Amino acid sequence: MRNVLVATIAGAALLGAMTTEGRAAGPAVELLHRSWSFDGIFGSYDDAAKQRGMQVYMQVCSACHGLEYVAFRTFTELGYDEGEVEAIAEQFFITDGPDEFGDMFERPGLPKDSWPSPFRNEAEAAMIHGKAPPDLSLIAKARPGGPNYLYSLLLGYDEEQGLDLPPGNYWNEYYPGHIIAMPPQLYPDLVVYEDGTEATVEQMAADVTQFLMWTAEPKMEERKQLGIGFMLFCAAMTLIFYAIMRRVWADVKK
Ligand code: HEC
Repeated sequence: MRNVLVATIAGAALLGAMTTEGRAAGPAVELLHRSWSFDGIFGSYDDAAKQRGMQVYMQVCSACHGLEYVAFRTFTELGYDEGEVEAIAEQFFITDGPDEFGDMFERPGLPKDSWPSPFRNEAEAAMIHGKAPPDLSLIAKARPGGPNYLYSLLLGYDEEQGLDLPPGNYWNEYYPGHIIAMPPQLYPDLVVYEDGTEATVEQMAADVTQFLMWTAEPKMEERKQLGIGFMLFCAAMTLIFYAIMRRVWADVKK
């Protein structure tokens, strides 16, 4: 009995130590928070924000980041029709092949293609930017704080604090360790939104975050609906079984 008690206490202490360590490795500062349309079990994506976010991604982020797991054809889920999706895909060059002579060749993108990385490989990306810009398909789910981290990161630059840093390094309040190889990206009116929304820095950061949440979990809405459906099903079954139980035991009780 005593052994069990000692083991339990030791286990709890170890778990405690591990969780604190885990937290220390994450961002040390409190992230900026926004209330997102997709928060909570009834939350869903905001289609207009996703489209604006995709515009920011296309015009700004795609110069350095690929979206390996996102095929253009899925952009119909953003509200684009098939013609528009073809037009978006065509703006990219995809390396294909080998052809009948064994050579690789470039062709315009097709809806079935994924958003290509702008670099041939990680080494080339790292040589150009000091550190390789990661693929962003799943980043919104891969970082502690998820959407709030992305949003904070994009808004977290401080030029004054970064003045003494070697070239190619920038100071960011929310990046773990504060020194990041990604230059600040967003400036007021950097994009001209097709829907006429004013392109403030916060607006662009929020929209591209919404887009990257969708790329990381395109089926979030279905998942939530399934969860709600399952909960209703369980509630209904509980009531039915309760009613059956009362009937079955009614005679016994008498
Ligand atoms: C000029 C190239 C460039 C552009 C354009 C760019 N990035 Fe980056 N990005 C980088 C580099 C380089 C890194 C790696 C930084 C590091 O690890 O120090 C990075 C890293 C990131 C990370 C990962 C941070 C982490 O926690 O590891 C995110 C998220 C990100 N970028 C988002 C964006 C978004 C969103 C945009 C568009 C608004 C964008 N980037 C545009 C170069 C770029």
